[in-house]
Amino acid sequence: MAQEHPLNHPVSRRGFFKGLGATAVATVASRAEVVAGELTKLDAERVQGPGAIPVDLVINGKRSSLQLEPRVTLLDALRNHLPLTGAKEVCDRATCGACTVLMDGVPVYACMILAVDAQGAKITTIEGLSPDGRLTKLQEAFVTCDGLQCGFCTPGFVLSLSALLEKTPQPTEAQVLKACSGNLCRCGSYPRVVQAALQAAGVKTASRCEVIRHV
Ligand code: FES
Ligand code: FES
Repeated sequence: MAQEHPLNHPVSRRGFFKGLGATAVATVASRAEVVAGELTKLDAERVQGPGAIPVDLVINGKRSSLQLEPRVTLLDALRNHLPLTGAKEVCDRATCGACTVLMDGVPVYACMILAVDAQGAKITTIEGLSPDGRLTKLQEAFVTCDGLQCGFCTPGFVLSLSALLEKTPQPTEAQVLKACSGNLCRCGSYPRVVQAALQAAGVKTASRCEVIRHV
């Protein structure tokens, strides 16, 4: 018996939409199952806070076990829960760089990072640069170049530039400027800060005035 060709078998509009609807319902249902599965997983995770929870931080090579509310920033943990006041709180909104610390060697604004999120990273504060009391080359250069006035911004600048010199031992002036572009100095010490970084790197500068002109 001859088979009927599928193209000769008309599908009604109603039948077509019914089929489409069934497929859509099946798709939505399977997505809902996935979402429900994810929510169950999230529910299974322990909800933390709002009270204090254990937070382990590795700062300047030492482990500190603290009890902190999850809302506490890394900056507040350093300044208020540990005796590390080198990072300064100025704007508290990721603008000035006074709170700069290094996380795994990268400069970050400590006012914008929750202490709980800093767990597992190696944090370096200004106190950690010279643990034995001997200044680094860069710190010495800040002194000899007179790269500060009130000094409030200085720890942040030193850490940003330390990270630069670690990666780029012989930076150009432009690279120095870029590296500390997230740090503000209200006293306007920029030319001497740049000169200090270049001097620490052994990069010859024409003169202090020359650097001032470029900045
Ligand atoms: S205090 Fe963190 S950027 Fe100003
Ligand atoms: S030296 Fe005073 S803010 Fe920079």
